[in-house]
Amino acid sequence: MKHLKGKAAVITGAASGFGLELARLAAAEGMQVVLADIEAQALARAEAEISALGAQTLAFRLDVSKGAEVQALADATLARFGVPGLVFNNAGVGAGGLVWENTEADWHWLLGVNLMGVAHGVRIFTPLMLEAARLDPAYEGHIVNTASMAGMQSAPTLGLYNTSKFAVVGLTETLHHDLALVTGQVSASVLCPALVNTGIGRSERNREGAPAGDSALTASQRAGRQLTEQGMAMSQVSAADVAGQVMQAVREQRFYIFTHPGALLNVRTRADDILQGRQPSDPFADLPGVTDYLKAQLRRQ
Ligand SMILES: NC(=O)c1ccc[n+]([C@@H]2O[C@H](COP(=O)([O-])OP(=O)(O)OC[C@H]3O[C@@H](n4cnc5c(N)ncnc54)[C@H](O)[C@@H]3O)[C@@H](O)[C@H]2O)c1
Repeated sequence: MKHLKGKAAVITGAASGFGLELARLAAAEGMQVVLADIEAQALARAEAEISALGAQTLAFRLDVSKGAEVQALADATLARFGVPGLVFNNAGVGAGGLVWENTEADWHWLLGVNLMGVAHGVRIFTPLMLEAARLDPAYEGHIVNTASMAGMQSAPTLGLYNTSKFAVVGLTETLHHDLALVTGQVSASVLCPALVNTGIGRSERNREGAPAGDSALTASQRAGRQLTEQGMAMSQVSAADVAGQVMQAVREQRFYIFTHPGALLNVRTRADDILQGRQPSDPFADLPGVTDYLKAQLRRQ
């Protein structure tokens, strides 16, 4: 998608992390920016910052896991700016722990945001974009769904999150093929970052009725959280770097957006495991000590 200026970008999860950085870049491109998020105060701060950059903005508070609220976001966007050129289905939350330890409420919450949030965005915005394409041969639209390297490899103690992100990769690859059947004017990308320092480690802040404090966590959830925090603190890639790569991929109409090239080696290993009928390799094999640390934490109970 070459021409961004003057078009609207809808961004879910726009109040923090990748979403906020995408909003900053969309404003710099001269786009109208629709900031959508569940966290009211952070959203108000983000909107103030983006409008101070000179962009026309619309701030919309919603829970992306609720289809009616995503529909209301689309209605408000249409009323204010018309059909958007860019849609970033980006809002997401994290949770960890041995996969059998997540509760039914954990599954509903995380799949609601990470998977259904993206599904609602796709099913509600895509028809609007296709109709705009039908009416105007010059219209171009692009959808970016945020998955993760967790949608490409199955690291231990992240089963719930991995499940949601594998689903987003599958959904978005299919979206790409489905769009290609019906139009050349609307396209899609999937964003797959590895660990980056954002607010994702504090996802419970946006969870209604979340169990309070670390004492509610199981040993595996505590160990997983510690590893995630260490990984984020050590990450050489910033949220701004990720957003920059996303905008570049949008311009190039590139489907896969991988922000951590080193992490791709695990994708090859996984494909080789499948093709050669091997047991799944340890995704932490190239991170010395991580698996031993987890075993030590979990076997001493
Ligand atoms: N940070 C990483 O290491 C990393 C790596 C891979 C993928 N991701 C993905 O990137 C996306 C953005 O996360 P981030 O890292 O910027 O984290 P973040 O916490 O900084 O930002 C996520 C935003 O989503 C919002 N949000 C949460 N639940 C919501 C809901 N139900 N409805 C609407 N908004 C909601 C939050 O308020 C927050 O502003 C997520 O999909 C995440 O899974 C993050």
